[in-house]
Amino acid sequence: MKVTIAVIPGDGIGPEVTAQAKKALEAVAETYNHVFLYKEAQMGACAIETTGTPLPDATIEICKNADAILFGAIGDPKYDNDPTAKIRPEQGLLRLRQELGLYCNVRPVKAYEKLIKNSPLKKEVVQGTDIAIFRELTGGIYFGEKKLSKDKKAAFDVCSYSVEEISRVTHLAFKAAQDRRKKVTLVDQASVLETSRLWRKTVTEIAKEYKNVALDFMLVNTAAMQLILKPKQFDVILTENLFGDILSDEASVLAGSIGLLASSSIGEKNALFEPIHGSYPQAKGKDIANPLASILSAAMLLEHLGLHEEADAIERAVEKSLTLGITTEDIKGKNQYSATTSKVGHFIADYIANQEDSNMNFKNIHMGQSTII
Ligand code: IPM
Ligand code: MG
Repeated sequence: MKVTIAVIPGDGIGPEVTAQAKKALEAVAETYNHVFLYKEAQMGACAIETTGTPLPDATIEICKNADAILFGAIGDPKYDNDPTAKIRPEQGLLRLRQELGLYCNVRPVKAYEKLIKNSPLKKEVVQGTDIAIFRELTGGIYFGEKKLSKDKKAAFDVCSYSVEEISRVTHLAFKAAQDRRKKVTLVDQASVLETSRLWRKTVTEIAKEYKNVALDFMLVNTAAMQLILKPKQFDVILTENLFGDILSDEASVLAGSIGLLASSSIGEKNALFEPIHGSYPQAKGKDIANPLASILSAAMLLEHLGLHEEADAIERAVEKSLTLGITTEDIKGKNQYSATTSKVGHFIADYIANQEDSNMNFKNIHMGQSTII
């Protein structure tokens, strides 16, 4: 299969982790006889530096014409600490989501057996957790009218949703639930918000088309609590843009490290894949960032293209790296021997390309003597 992949490394650790995901993709291409063409594009603080805008037109063009988009991270402390900045890196990503109509963001959260000890929650609480968060991505308060008053003493952000916006992401959430444990929890604030009441009404109607899927409702404050108290009760969580942003970061700690969570953002024509961890500027250039979320995003990208076996190969390699402890310091802890970003990427690519041969080196890995490391 010949596939064109737009690659946006972005800011902070984005370029380092994306490079590892590309290594994994290259190993897949060689092993399974595919041709992956990469078209590199700029977005974020790095694009502001070189072009004056966080999302150059050339990037939109490259993304529109690609079969899939692999994205690293966005953001720079320089802008975070300046509330008066008119141009911000994040505007690039928000505009790209809007331009490409990437309305459905999927964030799977899974407790890996090997990492349960890393979770801040008790083993019996977190073990077996397997949640897919479906976050609406192009509507709500993120995209409503916003304004700061002339005297700068008041401001507003409008949250609005249409039935159509709610419906399209809802259908995808229900379809996913059919292949999972057949439960959708709609998270909203229907006790207070008009938009949330429209969500409940619309989702209740649509649920009738999916008779084998159970639907329940939860207020967002309760959901924030229940995610920590009893995460196993959730299968698919369906929610609006802002709540999805907050809850998915909260849920990410369940997995033992935010460095493991991948995501996809799906539209009618385009799809973008990215780790959810953000730009982690403190780690930039140090070769210490966890590349697994980016590598797992590449697996989601392959899955989206219908390359299931290939996606499985990446996931198996990631599981293996966790089992063998070939992981970065966020998972290992600072005092234990940990691998660098690039070495984890190298191991994953090597395992995909020749799984049997890699076995020979496993016993040396912990001593740091393996040829892999
Ligand atoms: C995310 C990020 C973005 C968001 C930022 C970078 C605009 O936090 O993808 O979750 O809030 O949607
Ligand atoms: Mg976020």
